[in-house]
Amino acid sequence: MITGTKVLKHLDNLMERRPVTAQIQLDNFCNNFCSYCRYVGMPSKEKRSITLDEFKEYVRILLNMGVKGFILTGGEPTLSKDFDNITAWLEENEIPYGINTNFNVLKLIKPRYLKISIDGYDADSYKAVRGIDKYETVIRNLETYLKWKKENGVKTAVGIQKLGLDVEECRRFYEAHKHLDVDYFSFRPVESVRHSYYDTNDEKPVIAFLESLRQTDRRVQINYKYYQLRTCFEKCYGNFLQIAVNPNGDVIYCCHKSNEIVGHLTDPDILKKISEYDTNMETCPVPCRMTGPNALVRDMETSTNDSMFI
Ligand SMILES: C[S@@+](CC[C@H](N)C(=O)[O-])C[C@H]1O[C@@H](n2cnc3c(N)ncnc32)[C@H](O)[C@@H]1O
Repeated sequence: MITGTKVLKHLDNLMERRPVTAQIQLDNFCNNFCSYCRYVGMPSKEKRSITLDEFKEYVRILLNMGVKGFILTGGEPTLSKDFDNITAWLEENEIPYGINTNFNVLKLIKPRYLKISIDGYDADSYKAVRGIDKYETVIRNLETYLKWKKENGVKTAVGIQKLGLDVEECRRFYEAHKHLDVDYFSFRPVESVRHSYYDTNDEKPVIAFLESLRQTDRRVQINYKYYQLRTCFEKCYGNFLQIAVNPNGDVIYCCHKSNEIVGHLTDPDILKKISEYDTNMETCPVPCRMTGPNALVRDMETSTNDSMFI
């Protein structure tokens, strides 16, 4: 998760307006059909996976730009053809990466973090949200992974994610999985255009519940965006801190805007193209992963001329 303060660890990137995190969509297809997924409209005329050679080229370009961490996503990243070779190459070269996956397919990998979107708490609730009967498979995969992780002293932070819709659902999700040796439970707010979801849904009971749960189990993470659900920006101030690449190697304005192609990663002037690109903030999901960084960069850019007096 990119929060504003995390970015302060990478002051050079911040001052030189270079990306800290690259989000790479390894493919454009998925084996789940989530009711809430904003990527459903991804331009995917034909199925496409990034090959190992392409991936290596992209990562070299991104490292040269100053990128520190790579998020593998999709579609569903574990389905991409060269997934095993790509993760093995990242690990051999000690390149920090994390992965967002539904884990319907077991992968014994060693990312910095492995975040598994589960959403459900039993077969029916899983199917209701994710459109497929795979709850038992995911839990089995997760248990196998956790056992392997322990036996091999693997440091990967393993988290399971639920979109925090209402209290009862969050409670059931926690109760169903609290016995698992995961490192964190990620409860995440719904991201919708102009926060439309939260115009009709009150977040306060969910936040109060999650806060009380966290008192008893520190593994419960309340995504910081819960506290900024309606924060909109007139421009994406911190966009330069991330870079998102689709399976064709195109740079998209951000991972939320698959249809807005800014250029190709191999374009020598791609950073300039990104900086000159203007997006319509009215179409942005709110909140978004840039909510924290946007606030930080906006404050820096608009700080008054007494900023030297603290
Ligand atoms: C599109 S998925 C791709 C990776 C993988 N297939 C998965 O299921 O995690 C990436 C993340 O986006 C999140 N996501 C998609 N649409 C969302 C929305 N409208 N609000 C909040 N999160 C969303 C998913 O929950 C998931 O954690």
